[in-house]
Parts: sequence; C-alpha cells; structure tokens
Amino acid sequence: MFSLPNNWGTGGAKKRTRRRLSPQRVEEIWSRFDPAGDIAVRRFAGPQAYVGQLDRPLRVAHVTDLHVGLVTPMPIQVKAAELVNAEEPDLIVITGDFVCHTQSWLDELRDTIALYKGPVFCVLGNHDYWSGAQDVRRALVRGGAELLDNANTVVAIGSQRIQVLGLDDAYTGHADRRKATKGLRSDLPIVGLSHIAEEADALWHARVPLVLSGHTHGGQVTVARLNELAIGKLSGHKYIHGLYGTRNGAPRSGAVYVGAGIGAAVMPLRWGDRGRREVTIFELGVDPEGDNGIEEHHQTQRPLRGRRPSSKLKAKRAEKVVKRAARRARMTDPLG
Ligand SMILES: [Fe+2]
Repeated sequence: MFSLPNNWGTGGAKKRTRRRLSPQRVEEIWSRFDPAGDIAVRRFAGPQAYVGQLDRPLRVAHVTDLHVGLVTPMPIQVKAAELVNAEEPDLIVITGDFVCHTQSWLDELRDTIALYKGPVFCVLGNHDYWSGAQDVRRALVRGGAELLDNANTVVAIGSQRIQVLGLDDAYTGHADRRKATKGLRSDLPIVGLSHIAEEADALWHARVPLVLSGHTHGGQVTVARLNELAIGKLSGHKYIHGLYGTRNGAPRSGAVYVGAGIGAAVMPLRWGDRGRREVTIFELGVDPEGDNGIEEHHQTQRPLRGRRPSSKLKAKRAEKVVKRAARRARMTDPLG
C-alpha cells in the first residue's frame, strides 16, 4: 500500500504555494462531486495477433489523462497507481494529458509517476503541449517513465520482447507516423500508444494490432448518451470510450481502446458507468475468442461517423500551443 508523501502538495516555490488550496480543502470540495473516488478496473484479452507472437501472456496496464492538478486530488492518483500495481503488470502505459493548464504541479506529477511499479511508457497529450511539453517531459523522466515522442522501442520482459510505439499528440499537430513506425520489426509484437484514438486507423496499416489512447475522458457524463453528443457529434470523434476495431488478426486491421482516464482538467464531475475513472488491463497473448476466463466489460463496438479536423481547425490548435508558450515566456520574464 502507498501513503501520501509527507510533502505532497506542499512543495515548490513560496509564491506558488500561496496560490494553492490545501490538499485537504481540495479533497473536501471533491467529495461533494464524487464521494467514492471511484475507479473501475476493466479487463480485456489482446488481439489474436499476439497469440502466436508471445510464448506467455503479457499483462499491460493502461491509464490515461491523469491531469495531475487541482481538479484531481492526489488520493485519486495514489489509488489509481495502487490498482495498477496490484495487478503486477509486465508493462504500464500512460497515454497523455499528465497536467491541466499550468506547470504548478510538475513535482506532484513526478511523484505520481514514481508510484507506478514496473516499466512505464508514455506519450504526451494536448494539455501537456498547452502547459509546456519540455517541462512535462522532464517531470515524467524524473518520475522514471520513458517517453516515446514519435518513436518505438523494444522492451525485454524476461525472455519475451515486445515493441512499444508512441505517437506524439495528434490534436496539437505533433504526430509523425512515419517517424514513429521507422525501424519497426515484423518478428516482434507491437503495442501502440496515441493520445488521440483516431490515429489507430493508420497504425493498424503499419501492423500495430492494438492502440491504447485517451483524450475523451469517456465523455465524463455518460447518462442519456450525452457523451456521444459531446464527444461524437460536437467534437467529431469516431471513438468515444472503450474497445473498437477488430481483434481477429485480419491483415491491416486492429483494435483501439479509449480509456476514460483518471483525472479531469476543468470539471471534476463524472457520471455514468462509461464515465467512471478507469484502469484497463490487457492480457496480450490470450485468445480473445472463446472461453479465456476474462470477463470483459463490453464487446468491440462500432465507431461513430466521426469528422476529420479541417485544415483551419488544425492550424488553430497548433497556434494555441504557440500562444500559450509565448504567454508563459512573458510571465517568466515580463520585461523580455
Ligand atoms: Fe484529458
């Protein structure tokens, strides 16, 4: 079991500490919205492709959208790490949005990442770019994670080897598929990470049978299918929450999983089963067909229609990163 570090939420510069609510006060406010701090643990078998590639099943734990900061109290982060560690995963993957809107919680991010026991691989999300990607990267590395910015790597787990591919954030225009897939080996299994799930379609063509992602928070409020309206119709996502695609091993096809995430950046409210915070366990090398002993939360789903972002929207998103960086620079050096 983990306990909160003595200095949790109290470190950092004086100036920053003064602006903060105490962790106790944050918890008090939070409990009004979510008394249980409820986190679901959901399990799935990996795609068929891994069955022939692995000598023994590998357990991958996936969490996403930690959003370490004011809106997500630290006990939630600790609980998520405890749930992951209790599964004794071979591999832990985290698919972006580590922070919210500022760099005020980078020490806590480092401490959060350090709670995870096992090899941790990450990709960044849009909030990380908005808040300063370089500083988020540094915090992740200090916490013991390996960051994959449009890159892939071979991980040895006992006698097994698996490739982990990380696609950088597509929302802010940083995804480079060609770079991310460069040098991928066809004789080793591959698991892909991308903050934005829609990137999976192209990664399947690059022989990545499973892509783990985040970004949507499952819609957070999922009653009356509000998540489909907000994330699907309004935001244009094909994949809202959970498992999509196919696990049957057909060539140039694959599966994508959209995790509901652990934190929130704006509104802490989560309501409805699909909106629950989530730790997802994938058993790679276990046959998804037939009686495999895994009680899966849901079947593979059909995607929504989705809508590709226009060039104008892409430019606007990229511009937001530049504007935020300029604002940070002004705040650091107001005379500069
Ligand atoms: Fe997020």
